[in-house]
Amino acid sequence: MLNEIKKSAAYIAAQTEDFRPEVGIILSTGLGDFADHIEVKYSLEYKDIPGFPVSTVEGHKGRLIFGHIEGRRVVAMQGRFHYYEGYTMQQVTFPVRVMKLLGIEFLFVSNASGGINPTFRVGDLMIINDHINLMPNPLIGRNMDEFGPRFQDMHNCYDSALIAKATSIADEECIKLQYGVYVGTTGPTFETQAEYRYFKAIGGDAAGMSTVPEVIVARHMSIPVFAVSVITNCGLSDQIGDHEDVQAQGRKAGEKMAKLFVKLIKNL
Ligand code: HPA
Repeated sequence: MLNEIKKSAAYIAAQTEDFRPEVGIILSTGLGDFADHIEVKYSLEYKDIPGFPVSTVEGHKGRLIFGHIEGRRVVAMQGRFHYYEGYTMQQVTFPVRVMKLLGIEFLFVSNASGGINPTFRVGDLMIINDHINLMPNPLIGRNMDEFGPRFQDMHNCYDSALIAKATSIADEECIKLQYGVYVGTTGPTFETQAEYRYFKAIGGDAAGMSTVPEVIVARHMSIPVFAVSVITNCGLSDQIGDHEDVQAQGRKAGEKMAKLFVKLIKNL
């Protein structure tokens, strides 16, 4: 696996004239428009990158975009890999390993999730301040000592300094923020009512099917993480989530999230 990661990174570095991004950004369903905020220098299709899995979900583009935001070098993943698509956890997190070798010093993640906290409303942005992992752990298997330790500490998993900065930016910009614990599930089913109640009881504020694997692997490599969730449905109400709904709500909240990401990147 390490060799494949190195091969992939070497290919990308050659294609991008050693661009060396400082910030890696993982864009979620419907938030692909964030790429409009990037002054694009290079764009690589996943299918052309050796070792990269290819995205299969409708609405997910599959490319890596390299460029500048507020003068900072970024790489954005337009399209991510989900465990429910049938990828292994090693495939789901492969791009994060590659981005580390390319040079990233921060990882920004966005996702769509179902609100569990009864004070949340559809379209809210939730800063993830912790998670509960209900998926297989991506670090199971031989430890890649080159990247990090066998037993990874998970304190401050979502970087408190980045959360504090985001909070003051949101104040300035009048962006309403929620904060909470993201429950990572395999999907692809949305939760039953009993499952939403269970997630609430164990301390969850929102549930989703991504992010946790990538965050665990980023923390294994000591990369500070900032993650934001768009609440696209409220699990404990009678509303039923479907994929189109999720995409539409994601787009609406996308502009607020983009503003937050751009200003935070400027202030890193
Ligand atoms: N549950 C899990 N994942 C989701 C949800 C949900 O309610 N909404 C958007 N992604």
